[in-house]
Amino acid sequence: MSRTVSSIIAGRAISDGPGGMIQSTNPADTSEIVAEVALGDAGTFVSACEAARAAQPGWASVPAPVRGRAIQQIGRLVEDNKEALARLVTAEVGKPYAESLGEVQEIIDTCNFFLAEGRRLYGQTVPSEMPDKQLFTFRRPVGVTVVITAGNFPVAVPAWYLVPALLCGNAVVWKPADYAPALGDALAQLFLHGGLPEGVFNLVLADGPTTFAGLETSLARGLVDKVGFTGSTQVGRQIGELCGRHLQSPCLELGGKNPLVVMDDADLDLAVEGALFSGFGTAGQRCTSLGTVIAHEAIHDEFLSRLTAAVEGAAIGDPTQDVLYGPMIHERFLQNFEEKWLGLIRDHHQVQGSSGIGRITAGNPREGFVGDPERGLFVHPTIVSGVRADDDLATTETFGPLVGVARFSDWEDAMALANGHGYGLSASIYTTNPRHAFRYREQITAGMVSVNNSTSGAEAHLPFGGNGKSGNGSRQSGVWVLDQFTRWQSMNWDYAGHLQKAQMETADVEADLGFRLG
Ligand code: UN1
Repeated sequence: MSRTVSSIIAGRAISDGPGGMIQSTNPADTSEIVAEVALGDAGTFVSACEAARAAQPGWASVPAPVRGRAIQQIGRLVEDNKEALARLVTAEVGKPYAESLGEVQEIIDTCNFFLAEGRRLYGQTVPSEMPDKQLFTFRRPVGVTVVITAGNFPVAVPAWYLVPALLCGNAVVWKPADYAPALGDALAQLFLHGGLPEGVFNLVLADGPTTFAGLETSLARGLVDKVGFTGSTQVGRQIGELCGRHLQSPCLELGGKNPLVVMDDADLDLAVEGALFSGFGTAGQRCTSLGTVIAHEAIHDEFLSRLTAAVEGAAIGDPTQDVLYGPMIHERFLQNFEEKWLGLIRDHHQVQGSSGIGRITAGNPREGFVGDPERGLFVHPTIVSGVRADDDLATTETFGPLVGVARFSDWEDAMALANGHGYGLSASIYTTNPRHAFRYREQITAGMVSVNNSTSGAEAHLPFGGNGKSGNGSRQSGVWVLDQFTRWQSMNWDYAGHLQKAQMETADVEADLGFRLG
């Protein structure tokens, strides 16, 4: 049973679809239509920004604890609709249901964290260098926030932006992935029913180029004050350039080539479990998914054979069943995986992990596949060993169930592999030696480091974000994201009754600097 979804501006559905009609289909069964989608055009995007601009001052004047109450109601609604939303995540982007439940939980966690932030949003009182004068700091909302997100975390990652942005007194325009529009609509409905005034939350369903055009116009017209973007490094650069022209620094969360180092002292079973989940969970389509395992030569062969056995034995297929992973999220990801990422495998590599490579079909079967592979966009898990630091495979993000394995003997070689790709999102080390763990923490460029844990699965209240090609240094989640959605305002209040000149009329302290101990 499919639904029709469209952009929502100031509480009104834009159902005539000026950007055309498309269908969203289930990637595990492409004959199933999840939603008929009325797309917006660049004008729709601009109208949404205008609506947000009009509504924002009113929302900012709502006391922050009351805004926190709205976040509480939204969290409650998401919790009461948890299974329905998780089922839709599985239907529209193909995540195994257990992961979909986890994804929805991440929204609830985010609401739980921020609902009370409305009663904090602390500023400071700061001593002045003058008498009869006080200094203060206040957090001001940024204004209108545009949020553009990917479909691999179609509701959790948007919530990382939307919840704190709203709590801080901003109005938002959200553009979800064009291959997750039903989820965009579902999350929008939950937010709107949570008590947000009209125009404070706007949804735009549009493709990438249309969104870019709409954003360009909206920025030029002064309708947008902040952009949050999660997606590819390539598009992140374009958004960064565009925002830079308007003197804005966007919040960018981009790709990763996340390393997992296995030391010779590691618990190998634990390392295999971590590599299996972070490399192949979500079919390798997380920005935090494992890129390359960097295994010490003393355990390399043993690790590789245990990982291969685990991957060969893993259940893959129908995401409504108990599987390690389901389909590729969308045709686009399948095509890139087959044409680009598998194309990086060279003659000096060895491939293992499945009964085939590429798309799983009746003619290219996967042993033990759960369901009918012909119905959806399924691919074989692929382990590529023999990876070297100068391989394209060591430096390119390969969004899909493909894990490289490299061997090292010297620590410096391991670090060259772990940092050499220029991304810096997430990194992991398996070791029982604290010296290795802390040395890794110090030398790895990633924004997020795991010790004896997988590269994925960050908790929703620690700073999330990366360096290098993974972002521009912005951080999401927890208290750290408040700096994205507020700007500091300082205030001084002089009640001396006459002008006191800072730096020029401050009292000094007399000291005897010639004094020495006898
Ligand atoms: C992403 O892939 O964009 O840490 C986010 C994780 C998840 C979030 C991933 N909690 O793997």
